[in-house]
Amino acid sequence: MDTKDDMATTSLPHQLKIAARSRIAPFIAMDVLARANAHAQAGRDVVHLEVGEPGGGAPAPVLEAARRALEGGAIGYTEALGRPALRAAIAAHYRQSYDLAVDPGQVVVTVGASGAFVLSFLAAFDPGDRVVVPEPAFPAYKNILRALGIEVVRLGLGPASDFKPTAAMLEALAPPLHGLILASPGNPTGTMLARSELAALAAFCRARGIRLVADEIYHGITYEQPASTILELDRDAIVINGFSKYFCMTGWRLGWLVAPADLVRPIELLAQNLFISPPALAQEAALAAFACRAELDLRVETYRRSRAALLDCLPKGGLDRFAPVDGAFYLYADVGHLSADSHDLCAQVLEHTGVALTPGTDFDGEGGHRYLRLAFAGAPDRVITGAGRVVDWLRSRR
Ligand SMILES: Cc1ncc(COP(=O)(O)O)c(C=O)c1O
Repeated sequence: MDTKDDMATTSLPHQLKIAARSRIAPFIAMDVLARANAHAQAGRDVVHLEVGEPGGGAPAPVLEAARRALEGGAIGYTEALGRPALRAAIAAHYRQSYDLAVDPGQVVVTVGASGAFVLSFLAAFDPGDRVVVPEPAFPAYKNILRALGIEVVRLGLGPASDFKPTAAMLEALAPPLHGLILASPGNPTGTMLARSELAALAAFCRARGIRLVADEIYHGITYEQPASTILELDRDAIVINGFSKYFCMTGWRLGWLVAPADLVRPIELLAQNLFISPPALAQEAALAAFACRAELDLRVETYRRSRAALLDCLPKGGLDRFAPVDGAFYLYADVGHLSADSHDLCAQVLEHTGVALTPGTDFDGEGGHRYLRLAFAGAPDRVITGAGRVVDWLRSRR
């Protein structure tokens, strides 16, 4: 007789397979977060400068809209492409922010920007296609592409080009190239591409039939110039954005993409089958987000103040070489003169100061060991406390 216990103790005739495609790199910032939380649970005062999460939570009108939706009844499935009212509101956002007409029919609401990556990579690329990822970059680009069997063509960036890719760099890569992932402002650098620089990359891609995928999730969080959307320059590009960063709605898991008309139906079929629909409650709440821009812009001003305080304080500890921090809420610091291995340096900083930082290896497998990322999206007093502790510790090592 086969009891439950018998089945548990019977050894399997074969070791069951784990798919090779699942063997991707970890998201190191999340591993650091787990370690930092373990320190906090042990009673230490931990300052979280490792994850890019706005401190304040969603604006009050967004919470109120969610409450109304909950009281109003069923939270059910929605259209796979998202609620028409939200798609229209997102299209109107392009008119308001960029003076650009976007057809709501080309807007797709997704499960975070992360869900938009999966949908757009599946819709635009086949296994074996070669997609350029300029690094340092948000690690999910290459990890998702690899999990989907798409070849990642690394383009290493550094201070010589101000961490910006150029058409000449792309020209030097071996063909064929099927896609290019761009992020402006980028994570981990915060560096932005000017409109003319985006235009040159778009022209290169158009001439060679390379699909551009532009991650614009940090639009709205800029310190010098407003960001240009690639939609002004290349109507064949896929634009990805979402509610996690400027709109401060990380946990609501809502993003969007704008796709060329001929990609919308393929994306809809994928969305129906992969996700059924984006979360209904978050969609109702997000409808209220576009009216909160005055409040959200004030939050950007707090990031601006933290950025200024950090740029003033960190050099006192020898951290004085950063990628251009035009937007987002990160400083990508060169620590090559302080340590041969930023992973080890971040571990020591956490151990000695209780400040969690992310090693650059998360964002750049080849050059990242000489960089670390410091995220300043949290409460300014905590950011400044954390930076002060790091500076004091670095000075004590000299
Ligand atoms: C560049 C970039 N894109 C996308 C995301 C993920 O966005 P979402 O929370 O909407 O999935 C992040 C999160 O840190 C990011 O830095």
